[in-house]
Amino acid sequence: MIGRLNHVAIAVPDLAAAAANYRDSLGAKVSAPVDIPHQGVTVVFIELENTKIELLHPLGENSPIAKFLENNPSGGIHHISCEVNDIYAARDKLKASGKRVLGSGEPKTGAHGTPVLFLHPKDFDGTLVEIEEVAKAS
Ligand code: CO
Repeated sequence: MIGRLNHVAIAVPDLAAAAANYRDSLGAKVSAPVDIPHQGVTVVFIELENTKIELLHPLGENSPIAKFLENNPSGGIHHISCEVNDIYAARDKLKASGKRVLGSGEPKTGAHGTPVLFLHPKDFDGTLVEIEEVAKAS
């Protein structure tokens, strides 16, 4: 069902410092910060050859990242995102096998303008897993 690893998202306490670190220490190509108000985050996209890293920082009140950073003040991996061809089919299959889909269960528009859902970390070894519908997922 799942295809490629689309991205790994890392919550960071200082977005500019984290972006500079990836750019200067690792030689990565980093984007300018992008505000995504409906998700409550500012994101710096890092393009790698085979996948992406997203540096996440809270934006506005009630950001879903704020609590995570409270618990992990130096930052940390927040979620991984895997591609699927059909997010509704994936959701229904997961639910049928007893996995919990977070929120209303209806896909929301993610950071790349594609439909996404998040799966309960307790069902996936303590890791928040995002599934993302991408047209050409394998
Ligand atoms: Co994501």
